[in-house]
Amino acid sequence: MQEQALHEIQNASTLEALQAVKTHYLGKNGALTSQLKTLGQLPPDERKAKGAEINVLKTQLEEAVTVRQKVLEEAALEQKLRSEALDVTLPGVDFPVGGPHIISRILSDMEDIFARMGYRTVHGQEVEEDFYNFDALNIPGWHPARDMWDTFWLTDNRLLRTHTSPMQIRYMLEHTPPFKIIVPGKVYRFEATDATHESMFHQVEGLVVGDNISMADLKGTIAELARGTFGPRAKVRFQPSYYPFTEPGADFAVWWENPRGESKWLELGGSGMVHPNVFRAVDDLREARGLERIYEGKTGFAFGMGPERIAMLKYGIPDIRYFYQNDLKVLEQFKGELG
Ligand code: FA5
Repeated sequence: MQEQALHEIQNASTLEALQAVKTHYLGKNGALTSQLKTLGQLPPDERKAKGAEINVLKTQLEEAVTVRQKVLEEAALEQKLRSEALDVTLPGVDFPVGGPHIISRILSDMEDIFARMGYRTVHGQEVEEDFYNFDALNIPGWHPARDMWDTFWLTDNRLLRTHTSPMQIRYMLEHTPPFKIIVPGKVYRFEATDATHESMFHQVEGLVVGDNISMADLKGTIAELARGTFGPRAKVRFQPSYYPFTEPGADFAVWWENPRGESKWLELGGSGMVHPNVFRAVDDLREARGLERIYEGKTGFAFGMGPERIAMLKYGIPDIRYFYQNDLKVLEQFKGELG
């Protein structure tokens, strides 16, 4: 048995196999253990010698198991280390990192500039009602000015807002002047696209209402935005224009020399003093809801401008359609520039 057992221990090729051999000989019902149990049946003089013999064998087998176990454990560890080896000389994996879209950056810069002038940023809804997009802004259904905005109509007098101006009405309905707000957001127009026109683009609406607000306040505000965006040398130009919801109305353009030495005037947006009919429409609505008329006699200015045009001017982007084609070659250039 000694020879057989030592042979099996030496040749156990895995820890599991070794454990099985150990159980077979040294376990509770193992071959050696059962020999120990039969000792009692022997005559006393034989019993002692036989007992000592079995115990020597037992110790010998236990030692052999311990030695073999160490060998097998070391082999297993070595195998594990080898299979998990890490080659630190291999080149690393490049994880491309995204960045905010250039228009998101322009919008957040504009929000900062206006916040410094005390403006609150609010958001409107992209699906609007005919009433807020047009009627309440002094553009009734028969008004030829409706042609100024080619509209994506939905059902039930709803539409995709053609400008952010409906938020003027929604905000005035629920708030008491004085206040200053901007409304950044997406707008939609059913029109053919070209280098300066998209059918989905953004606007930033501004509305200031209070007492004795004047055109000078409007001009100062737009000049501040232009300097904040383009630097201290930026110039602003106002030209008379027509919007049914302003009186008077004016378009404004910005002149700026970019780092490539190019400079020109670029139309950025429309603006004007809030038309008394707009205040009246808001008061009528408030009255219908059982609220006080509070806009009569107030003054205010409003503006709406396109951040895509600002980005084009600032970064020398020749075509507005680049913004939303999601060509990574285009997007990544601005990721770098914007850090
Ligand atoms: C308006 O939408 C008025 N709601 C602006 C306004 C607000 C006037 C408050 C007075 C008081 P207009 O259609 O001109 O106006 O558009 C304003 C700006 O949006 C334009 O100057 C331009 O910067 C941008 N814009 C207009 N159409 C497009 C287009 N198709 N693609 C990209 N930008 C456009």
